[in-house]
Amino acid sequence: MFKIAVIGGDGTGPEVVAEGLKVLEAVAKKNRFEYSLKHFDFGGARYLKTGEVLPAGAVEELKKFNAIYLGAIGHPDVAPGILEKGLLLEMRFQLDQYINLRPVRLYEGVDCPLKDKGPKDIDFVIVRENTEDLYVGSGGFAHKNTRMEVATQIMLATYEGVERCVRYAFELTQKRNQRKLLTLVAKTNVLTYASDLWWRVFHQVAKEFPDVKTDYNHVDACCMWMVKNPEFYDVIITPNMFGDIITDLGAIIQGGMGIAAGGNIHPRGVSMYEPIGGSAPKYTGKNVINPLAAIGALSLMLRHSARQETAADQVEKAVMKVAKNLKSMAAGKMGYSTTEVGDLVVQSL
Ligand code: IPM
Ligand code: MG
Repeated sequence: MFKIAVIGGDGTGPEVVAEGLKVLEAVAKKNRFEYSLKHFDFGGARYLKTGEVLPAGAVEELKKFNAIYLGAIGHPDVAPGILEKGLLLEMRFQLDQYINLRPVRLYEGVDCPLKDKGPKDIDFVIVRENTEDLYVGSGGFAHKNTRMEVATQIMLATYEGVERCVRYAFELTQKRNQRKLLTLVAKTNVLTYASDLWWRVFHQVAKEFPDVKTDYNHVDACCMWMVKNPEFYDVIITPNMFGDIITDLGAIIQGGMGIAAGGNIHPRGVSMYEPIGGSAPKYTGKNVINPLAAIGALSLMLRHSARQETAADQVEKAVMKVAKNLKSMAAGKMGYSTTEVGDLVVQSL
């Protein structure tokens, strides 16, 4: 039995997750695959009521599941950082989900803001390191609120942390398709410590994968190439902070937040799958948000945690079919409601 912890979370999170669960029910029946669900009410509303972000014992409880299905985190009445760090990053770190996997694929019929680029040009995967770098929260203030104030925020890279992530990316590149091209994105011309470690580990691990071609881009140049020549990329491997930035760029060239999904993965642990769009407070409760990203996240869960490749393919194909028939990926402009889009995916299965 595949056990899923469901965290609908804030804003439109619960609405899109509900559509994903509808699709899960249908695809599980089709493939005779058994699962169980348990819902958790973590998020802004609970925090405002109880003052607790992640209650004591929550992570221990989550460790009993096979995967987590997350809607969105972020509440307009909660100061920035509290929920993001206290809930999302806390789960990523404590469950050691060291891979943030972000497929960037433009589906047929989906609008792309890039001139003269189509589905054959935009099909790559970003592997973002997910537990280190500027994200660890190492640093602090001295003399806060005075003219002498010093704020530090440390970019941290460990050999072990970089190596396991790089290895995952090589393995993924080797089996993904025939291109077998892995590009390291970092900033070796300025970050001569952290990026230097990445560079050395990358080339060390590369020796074990002689069939994988390697390339390197500085992160600023990568932003340019992702817009001008996205077809250059097959798999990108990058540290956490650069990964955060380039995955939003990736999301917009694949059609935006309505379609972009990601996985926070520990290959042998409890992984967490989410649409990357956020809680969209102004669309909450209106039945207008696009659930395709959440349904795409479900497909990632089926592929990477449940090992149900057939079911994962079926869900992705159904998403592609429905995406083609929507007027737009944007909330309120799809030509259908949230629940109708979920129903369409179920029908297409
Ligand atoms: C993402 C998000 C998060 C991040 C935020 C919400 C903390 O932008 O998953 O990319 O920075 O990792
Ligand atoms: Mg981000």
